[in-house]
Amino acid sequence: MIIDVVTIFPQMFKPILGESIIKRAQKKGLVKINLVNLREYADGLHKKVDASPYGGGSGMVFSCGPLFSAVESLLGYKVYPEQKKDSKKRVILFSPKGKLLSSKLVKKFLRYERLILIAPRYEGVDERVNKYLAEEMVSIGDYVLSGGELPGMVFIDCLVRLIPGVVSSPDSVKQESFENGFLDYPVYTRPRDFRGVKVPKVLISGNHKEIDFWRRKKAEDLTKKLRPDLLEVKDRRRKNKAKL
Ligand code: ADE
Repeated sequence: MIIDVVTIFPQMFKPILGESIIKRAQKKGLVKINLVNLREYADGLHKKVDASPYGGGSGMVFSCGPLFSAVESLLGYKVYPEQKKDSKKRVILFSPKGKLLSSKLVKKFLRYERLILIAPRYEGVDERVNKYLAEEMVSIGDYVLSGGELPGMVFIDCLVRLIPGVVSSPDSVKQESFENGFLDYPVYTRPRDFRGVKVPKVLISGNHKEIDFWRRKKAEDLTKKLRPDLLEVKDRRRKNKAKL
């Protein structure tokens, strides 16, 4: 998979992309991450990428020209309203107005060969970018950040670890929080006794059936306590399936 990131701050991404799992995934050739400096697509001496909004108001807005040029150079064609898009590529823009990021949403993007991520700044982008250039809008939560760079990094991290072959043990991805609609179960490691607090006996029993049962129960209890909303979603889905 190729991931392009269109940003005015490519340097912000480098430390994150150059460490740990994402670094290894790139080395293994499982993903190629291409940082695109939006200013290179701006005209004029000052390489301006933004302008004040028509009708007045505070802040600056990313204008169409540089963003369309940058994304079109990655897509390999020009974008006009009502135009048919390349189904192997997807243009994603980060905005608090977008769909809330979740494991389920991220998995949907694994089917594309190329993802073009737009990380805007300031007060957002000209509406024609939202309408005609971006095919998806993604938010990482109901709060406003100063730009799309952090959401871009969160998205890349979340996505790359799901690419087959990136995480050495696929089971660890399958078992983690949200995978089955439950939070992850608690885990313990050495020592068996830390300041008088002991590891639950069942985990050192060697009885894998009982360990599985204990883990499922703990995951359920934890979800009920910390994220009852997840169980409501699960319940609704089950009821909808039964109706079909
Ligand atoms: N840009 C600013 N805030 C954001 C958010 N919460 N999610 C995605 N993009 C953003």
